[in-house]
Amino acid sequence: MTARLDDPLTLPCGVTLPNRLMKSALSETLGRADGAPSRRLETLYTRWRDGGFGLVVTGNVTVDHRHLSEPGNVAIADDRHLPELTRWAQTFRPTTTPLFMQINHPGRQAHSLAGRSRPVAPSAVRAAVPGAVRPRALTHTEILALVARFGAAAGIAEAAGFDGVQLHAAHGYLVSQFLSPLANRRADDWGGDATRRRRFILAIVRAMRSAVRPGFAVAVKLNSADFQRGGFSEDESREVVRALVAEGVDLIEVSGGSYESPAMMGTVAASTAAREAYFLAYARTVRAVAGAVPIAVTGGFRTRAAMAEAVAAGDCAVVGLGRPACLTPDAGTALLVRGLERLPSSGVRWGGARGLVGRFGDLRSLDSVIDLQWHTDQLHRLGAGKEPDPARRWWRTVASATLRMGPGALQPKRSAGRSRR
Ligand SMILES: Cc1cc2nc3c(=O)[nH]c(=O)nc-3n(C[C@H](O)[C@H](O)[C@H](O)COP(=O)(O)O)c2cc1C
Repeated sequence: MTARLDDPLTLPCGVTLPNRLMKSALSETLGRADGAPSRRLETLYTRWRDGGFGLVVTGNVTVDHRHLSEPGNVAIADDRHLPELTRWAQTFRPTTTPLFMQINHPGRQAHSLAGRSRPVAPSAVRAAVPGAVRPRALTHTEILALVARFGAAAGIAEAAGFDGVQLHAAHGYLVSQFLSPLANRRADDWGGDATRRRRFILAIVRAMRSAVRPGFAVAVKLNSADFQRGGFSEDESREVVRALVAEGVDLIEVSGGSYESPAMMGTVAASTAAREAYFLAYARTVRAVAGAVPIAVTGGFRTRAAMAEAVAAGDCAVVGLGRPACLTPDAGTALLVRGLERLPSSGVRWGGARGLVGRFGDLRSLDSVIDLQWHTDQLHRLGAGKEPDPARRWWRTVASATLRMGPGALQPKRSAGRSRR
């Protein structure tokens, strides 16, 4: 029997998704200065609670308040913010949609102005993006302490009332740095070959699993590849999937790329970009390896037909939606109940302002940075109790992003850079 978008899905741990549409992680940057979730975050999640999704994953929450991927990240170094985290999780009660917290450490992609410490990484290798700082290589003892932090964060998420956690092992952040032969040049227990490079992610999943009760979901967001010559390859990624399945994960979301090569935002020049969903071809090849562990695919899905076809063909069990969930916070209901055929995905383009941007070189890169910040603006509007503004102009985004992130706001990050494939 072929699956449908409105079919429920029960994960191995027993958590049931009422349908196959997932609101993927979107960094809200609505944390307070002390790292606690703000009231605006609660307002935003009330919108997604009522959005008809099968699963909602929070934006990345950092395990160390000294290392942020951007200003305004929520941080859970310990349980000091448990009351605020509990209020955040409570926005989903009562509802049948599970809420997972995405847990992250930015490693060498830490925001240079937001962090209070020199960035750390598997090796002292600078990311090849403008403004990146050379990180300090972690010691063995520090790595073990970080593994424990990830485990503790999962325990805190459970205590706060979330239904699961998602380890962010994609997009060039710390866990993905450990997987990458380009970023991880270690020759100890944590690097040197593919088996040792994946020891960090597996140790974290084990720590998370043992910190939570059996019915609590432990999911992972993983790159299909780094989209860089000599980087983390699809073959290695499939081996990581195999190992994650053996660790008993509940859901694997497939994405790809990093700040250096942001394939996840559709900038990839590979043939995959020609289709609506960028990573579907890879997902098809991991199905057999993943066995009973469902695969979610995020990146590029916009039409109901493409989503339905991917699920019906069994290419993925769950369809992830990122940018569309900023403009259509009730995308689940829109697609499944109101019968919307295509989710709007406006975004902004510099267009006539080309003359102004010569110093940035690559217009497409700049477009994608502004695209990301433009979507963040929409999240801030929702958090303030307003409606999204699909007509928002690029120069307003430049102004608001500079206020939020400082003068480095338009530097390449999650969505910038040039695909090298
Ligand atoms: C504003 C914004 C914030 C994002 N924050 C995160 C994040 O915190 N964690 C993550 O895994 N991906 C993050 N992403 C990537 C999305 O989850 C998703 O992979 C990407 O947008 C591609 O999917 P889409 O084509 O449906 O937008 C972010 C994307 C945007 C636009």
